[in-house]
Amino acid sequence: MPSKTIAIASDHGGFELKTELKKYLMETGYTVLDLGSDSLESVDYPDFGYALAGAMKEGKAKLGVLICGSGIGISIAANRHSEIRAALVHDALTARLSRQHNDANVICFGGRTIGPEVARDCLNIFLETKFEDGGRHSRRVNKLSDPK
Ligand code: RB5
Repeated sequence: MPSKTIAIASDHGGFELKTELKKYLMETGYTVLDLGSDSLESVDYPDFGYALAGAMKEGKAKLGVLICGSGIGISIAANRHSEIRAALVHDALTARLSRQHNDANVICFGGRTIGPEVARDCLNIFLETKFEDGGRHSRRVNKLSDPK
């Protein structure tokens, strides 16, 4: 198992899937750092994307999970932080490629666009797949940290 602590956050649109994935991660043996939200009450997705990025920057977790209604807003929010590579994932292939090619450290889901079983499958793949370090993918990922 790679990193034992996984940070997780969502807005109201992702709250139900967050609850499911948090339970699943804990049952699988991970420690979960839950940064909210805590209910279906309407909140602003940037607050939760930023909270997770901040926690990862402080070293509280190496990997994270973010969920909003579509997965779009919260992934944009997280990707405004240079140390975050957040990938909006829809299926097993995008989950696998996010790790192999992009060294993604945050997986994002749309709580209104993906079912819990597919999301669990994607999350497993994300957690178990290694980055294809060393060649063209490293060169490209390094460029992400140094935008022109
Ligand atoms: C909230 O209604 C919704 O806009 C949000 O969860 C997300 O989909 C934004 O990208």
